[in-house]
Amino acid sequence: MKPPEYYRGREQTYLKHFFLERYLERVAYNIGSFYNDFVYVDGFSGPWQSGDEALDDTSFMIAIQKLRQVREGLAKVGRTPKIRCMFIEREPGPYHALEAAVRDVTDIQIETLNGEFEHSIPEVLKFVGKAFSLVFIDPTGWTGFGLKQITPILQHRPGEVLVNFMFDYINRFLDDPRPDISASFTELFGGPGWETAVRSAVRREDAIVELYRERMRAAGGFTHVTSTRILKPTHDRSYFYLVYGTRHFKGLVEFREVERKAVDEQERVRFAAKQESRETRTGQTELFSADDLASVPASFEVERSVQRDLAVEQLRALLRRQAKVPYEDALATLLELPLVWEGDVKLIILGLRGAGELDVAGLNPPERTPKKGHVLVRKNLK
Ligand SMILES: C[S@@+](CC[C@H](N)C(=O)[O-])C[C@H]1O[C@@H](n2cnc3c(N)ncnc32)[C@H](O)[C@@H]1O
Repeated sequence: MKPPEYYRGREQTYLKHFFLERYLERVAYNIGSFYNDFVYVDGFSGPWQSGDEALDDTSFMIAIQKLRQVREGLAKVGRTPKIRCMFIEREPGPYHALEAAVRDVTDIQIETLNGEFEHSIPEVLKFVGKAFSLVFIDPTGWTGFGLKQITPILQHRPGEVLVNFMFDYINRFLDDPRPDISASFTELFGGPGWETAVRSAVRREDAIVELYRERMRAAGGFTHVTSTRILKPTHDRSYFYLVYGTRHFKGLVEFREVERKAVDEQERVRFAAKQESRETRTGQTELFSADDLASVPASFEVERSVQRDLAVEQLRALLRRQAKVPYEDALATLLELPLVWEGDVKLIILGLRGAGELDVAGLNPPERTPKKGHVLVRKNLK
C-alpha cells in the first residue's frame, strides 16, 4: 500500500488500510494453510476519495495486491487454495472505475456487483458458497448494513466480519429526534432498545460501541467480538472503531497482534499530522519530525494501563467462577479487551501468581511464562 505521506489529511484512512492489509494477510495465510477456498468480500468498495490514478490507495486494490502475495507465499509451502474476491459498490460512477480497475486481474477470481450491499446478500452467499469468508463493511455513514438484513452473512460459517463503525458520525446523530434518523439507528443496531442503553450510560462512547459489539455477537453467533479504535488525526478523539467478529480464538490473537502494530503506526502518523497542523498555524518549522524521534509520545499507554487493570479484574472474576481455568480460556477472554495483548496477559498471570492469587499448573522450571496447556488455579484472590 501507499506510504502515510500519500494519505495526508486523511490519515484515518491510512490507518484503516494499514489494519486491513495486515489483518487480511494473516487471515488469508492462516486459512489458506488449512482450507482450499478463501473469499474476501468488500461490501462498500469504492473507489472513494482516492488520490491515486492506479487506485493503489483503495481497499480493493490493497486487498488484491496482498492476496496475490499471500497466494505466492502459500505456493512456496505447497498450498494452492482458491482465493476469490467480491467487490460491491452502489454508485454507478465509482462502480465503473472499480470494474475498469479490476478488469485485467486474471490471477485472482473477482466478481463485481453494482448495487446496495444490503440487497446483495443472496448474491454474496452464493458467491461465498462453503468457503471461509472475510467480509469487510466500510460504509460512509451508519446506513446500508442493518444488523437484521446482514445477519445471514454474519452467520456464515466458516467466516469473519470486519465493520467500520463510524463512531464520530453516529454519535453526532444519535440524539436527533427526527423519526427517520431514529429508525435508521434501530436498523443499525438490529432492533429497538438502543435509546435507553445509550442515553442512560455513564460512559456514552463505551456504551455505544459495546452495544453494537453485543448485538453483532448475538446476530452472528460469534464466539468473540472485539474492536480497535482509530483516533482523529489531529484531535484526541475517536474517529471510528473497527469491530471484528470471529469464531476462532486464533483470529482474535491475530487481530490483537495487528492492533499492537497499528497502535505504534497510529502514534507516528498522528504525531506527524499534528506537527504539520501546528507548523501551518504558526508558520514555523519544528526541529524534529516523527521519523527523527526514537519513540513518539505513547498516548496509548494511559489507555492501555486502564485496560490492563480491567483485564486483571476480569481474570479474577473468571477464577471466582471457576477454580481452574485453562490458559487458552483466560487468554480468549482477556484478548477481547481492546489494547490488551498476549504479552500483557502473560505478565498479568505472573503478577497474580507472585501475589499468591493463583498458581499456574504445568509451569515448571526452566519454563518462565504461561502458555497453552497450562492451567490457572485459584488461590487467595483479592
Ligand atoms: C467509505 S467508502 C469505501 C472506501 C473503501 N472501502 C476504501 O477503504 O478504499 C464507501 C463506499 O460505499 C459506497 N456505498 C454507499 N452506500 C452503499 C451501499 N448501501 N451499498 C454499497 N455501496 C455503498 C459509496 O459510494 C462509497 O464508494
